[in-house]
Amino acid sequence: MNLPTINNSAGAGPLLDTFGRVHNNLRISVTDRCNLRCTYCMPEEVTFMDKQELLTFEEMARFVEIVAPLGIDKIRLTGGEPLLRRDLPRLVAMLCKIPGIRDVGLTTNGILLTHLAQPLFDAGLRRINISLDTLDPERFRQVSRRDGLDKVLEGIQAAKQAGFEPIKINAVSIRSITEHEVVPLANFARAEGLEMRFIEYMPIGADDWEREKVYFAHEILEQIEQHVAPLAPAKNYDPNAPAMEFDYVDGRGRVGIIASVSRPFCMSCNRVRLTADGKLRNCLFALKEVDLKPMLRGSATPEEIATIVRGNIWEKWEGHEINTARFVKPTRTMHTIGG
Ligand code: 5AD
Ligand code: SF4
Repeated sequence: MNLPTINNSAGAGPLLDTFGRVHNNLRISVTDRCNLRCTYCMPEEVTFMDKQELLTFEEMARFVEIVAPLGIDKIRLTGGEPLLRRDLPRLVAMLCKIPGIRDVGLTTNGILLTHLAQPLFDAGLRRINISLDTLDPERFRQVSRRDGLDKVLEGIQAAKQAGFEPIKINAVSIRSITEHEVVPLANFARAEGLEMRFIEYMPIGADDWEREKVYFAHEILEQIEQHVAPLAPAKNYDPNAPAMEFDYVDGRGRVGIIASVSRPFCMSCNRVRLTADGKLRNCLFALKEVDLKPMLRGSATPEEIATIVRGNIWEKWEGHEINTARFVKPTRTMHTIGG
């Protein structure tokens, strides 16, 4: 019997892959530069991309104008450290204006947020995630190889004042390194009205990842329940979102756990990524990427670019296989992909 060939790459409709996953979420890395050197993310010595290798804001907006009609409606700006890209509020404003884009978010290390929180909010940004792994200055220096805790804390206050709500704080959970930060961070977030999110340490950085170094979701939850306050699964939580959400039973706050290793969420993944140098990646761990920069810079038509995007997403694999012997670590480290 001849089965009909399903070829989504030429078709219309949502950005589907062969597992039926619909992609509406685009993460754009705006720079590979960073003012920290977190050990789990990048090496101390790095050669950053030349400026002309980076997509311009106009090229990024052009890409978004092409993919919005294909169903992309949510964007997150990442890096490196996105606030190092000059004039970022201008990009936010450009993206917010594109028909079909429902919201634009940002993941930042917070170092430069003090003066940028308000201009970003005014440009239309509403969702903000600030990375903070510890409240201890020594530990901060150990993890990020730089000083800056005070700046980040100041940046968080500036984000609150600007009106961001909720503000999510991301902490990477590494056994023995940030394990003891769980309770102080959870208490801090509860007191400050922030949503704390713990992320299991993934093999995507520059250092030697080992499974033993992952401080697991159930261990994080156990610490919070024992030393902070009881939690219950959040009622309105989105099963497609990577974070498992828990509310404090006393109603004072929420905790998210991103259990990428112990509870992979690949089967509900709706994300696709554009790197700062214009490569399309259908998975954080993808080993293959498509270079869109020549097309965005050249004379390719929107239809030609859309076809390439459809084809790349159609080919997306089942998932990252971190838990299997088949796992192959991508050669790009996190700062060149975008967190
Ligand atoms: N494992 C888990 N999360 C990581 N991030 C960077 N590298 C890793 C890793 N190896 C996260 C940072 C930040 C975002 C940019 O990505 O904590 O929140
Ligand atoms: Fe910079 Fe973020 Fe990587 Fe840390 S995790 S080095 S803050 S890009």
